[in-house]
Amino acid sequence: MNVLGLESSCDETSVSIIADDVIKSNLISSQDFHIKYGGVVPELSSRAHLQIINPLLKQSLQEANLSLKDIDLVCATAGPGLIGALLIGLTYGKALAYGMGKPFIPVDHVEGHLFSGFLMEEKPEYPFLSLTVSGGHTLLLLVSSPTDIKKLGTTIDDAVGEAFDKVSKMLGYGYPGGPKIQEAASKHLGDLIPFPISNTKGEYDFSFSGIKTAVLRYIQKNFDTAEKLEEEDKNLISASFQNYAVKALIQKVEKAVKNFSVKSLSLSGGVAANIFLREELSLLAKRNNKKLIIPAIQFCGDNAAMIAFRGEMLYKEGLSFSNELNAYPSLTFNKLIR
Ligand code: KG4
Ligand code: ZN
Repeated sequence: MNVLGLESSCDETSVSIIADDVIKSNLISSQDFHIKYGGVVPELSSRAHLQIINPLLKQSLQEANLSLKDIDLVCATAGPGLIGALLIGLTYGKALAYGMGKPFIPVDHVEGHLFSGFLMEEKPEYPFLSLTVSGGHTLLLLVSSPTDIKKLGTTIDDAVGEAFDKVSKMLGYGYPGGPKIQEAASKHLGDLIPFPISNTKGEYDFSFSGIKTAVLRYIQKNFDTAEKLEEEDKNLISASFQNYAVKALIQKVEKAVKNFSVKSLSLSGGVAANIFLREELSLLAKRNNKKLIIPAIQFCGDNAAMIAFRGEMLYKEGLSFSNELNAYPSLTFNKLIR
């Protein structure tokens, strides 16, 4: 079966082809021009998706050595994300499928991330505990089957990736913040600033606005303005923030591992690229004698391979969707995450 995946929820346009479970192509075009605005500008994002999606599809077919008529199933991200951006990939995918008389599956972006561990050779085993962490989501999920996903906890304020991005902005590093904070943190050896890990009412919930504010207060108190920060100060703040933000995630995952009987652990989403988080979660998995699946870096950020894979999974589960389905900015449309 040849599956085409399309992803355009934010600032990456991606086209992927998976043929009989082998990834033949996974092209990702990142919209780097948003950097100068300090964040993603929705209208510019939509326009860039529109310009690149057709050439990317052509290139992807070439790489896979297939033509359009060989595609058996079309899948595209339906949400959550920027509505104008989503509409490009979704409408393009629906039109392609309709024109070719092939089935179409709309895919939830978060579900794409959470099943991205299956793109690896060693796959998660059900039931598994999933930590899905991106710029928009921080979710701890108990996944018992492709369609049985229970939400154990989520953030009550900022997503962890969002906190990385905001701290990065405070330090003058810009967007996206995660990789820059990680790099600065790696240059610091020694003591850390004891930033707080916030308590939450929900046993498995997260909160990152407290640590973000603590970083801001630390800068204001000690340096007055961010311009006065030296390179070493930025490295120290980055290392301290990264340490406590990751520890906040680890604490809740460890609690869940002990309280739920799971076969494996899975880490996914853009923040899953973070080396310190990957290391800490590996240690947690070892301590608790669990198999850990983390996607390769190219499958952590937004990519269409995860969309194609998840779409095929739902198709094989017998799910079908009305062609009337539209893009949606938040909330899942298929209610699979309970
Ligand atoms: O999944 P993703 O590409 O887009 C969303 O669906 O949000 O995630 C993007 C987020 C951004 O907040 C970015 O700063 C963060 O992932 N990120 C990282 C790293 N690489 C990307 N955060 C921490 N460490 C990283 N190495
Ligand atoms: Zn994402």
